[in-house]
Amino acid sequence: MSAPPAGTLRLGSTAPNFQADTSNGPIDFHEYLGNSWGILFSHPDDFTPVCTTELGAFAKLEPEFAKRDVKLIGLSANSTDSHKEWIKDIDEVSGSKLSFPIIADPTRKISHLYDMVDYQDTTNVDSKGVAFTIRSVFIIDPKKTIRLILSYPASTGRNTAEVLRVIDSLQTGDKHRITTPINWTPGDDVIVHPSVSNDEAKTLFPKFKIIKPYLRLTPLEVNNN
Ligand code: BEZ
Repeated sequence: MSAPPAGTLRLGSTAPNFQADTSNGPIDFHEYLGNSWGILFSHPDDFTPVCTTELGAFAKLEPEFAKRDVKLIGLSANSTDSHKEWIKDIDEVSGSKLSFPIIADPTRKISHLYDMVDYQDTTNVDSKGVAFTIRSVFIIDPKKTIRLILSYPASTGRNTAEVLRVIDSLQTGDKHRITTPINWTPGDDVIVHPSVSNDEAKTLFPKFKIIKPYLRLTPLEVNNN
């Protein structure tokens, strides 16, 4: 099997650094993230309907992300002046107070750096010539490792609850030797990591149950550090 082309981002890649202008002023991306988790999510154009609702929803949920030490940062392939006007609309429509930066990417340099643009078909543009899709979500951990990549079509708004759920799963899995099953939300049983032997599990997760030798479920006690 051949390796992916150089520069192609995958889960486990280091999130490339860049300097950019944003609605909150110039940033160095890695400096902005510092030692926090980050969510970078992108948009092809300002004043687009689906994206307007998404930014408002992320802004309203920002306290939940902050509680988990996650910094939000948007990107849209327009100028900061345009972003600032758009933010007024977003707040008006959503009742939000959007305060995280939105990166200006009028040349799509960062969109290409992060492989957010649909290369499959260069004619895949909307009526204004805007390249689809630039509608990605990246979850980046404090070591700057990419932990999740999602790409959405223009037709379908993202789900902020799902992004938050993945953060909860990743942070829980980093802390305990567990993974999380389908549709897991905090408080549900988790899966004992395959690297944990049954003997170890007896100590780490006294209430674990063997459903199949390869599927062991356990409640996760809050104080189980
Ligand atoms: C939107 O509705 O947000 C949208 C429209 C066209 C292209 C991408 C996004």
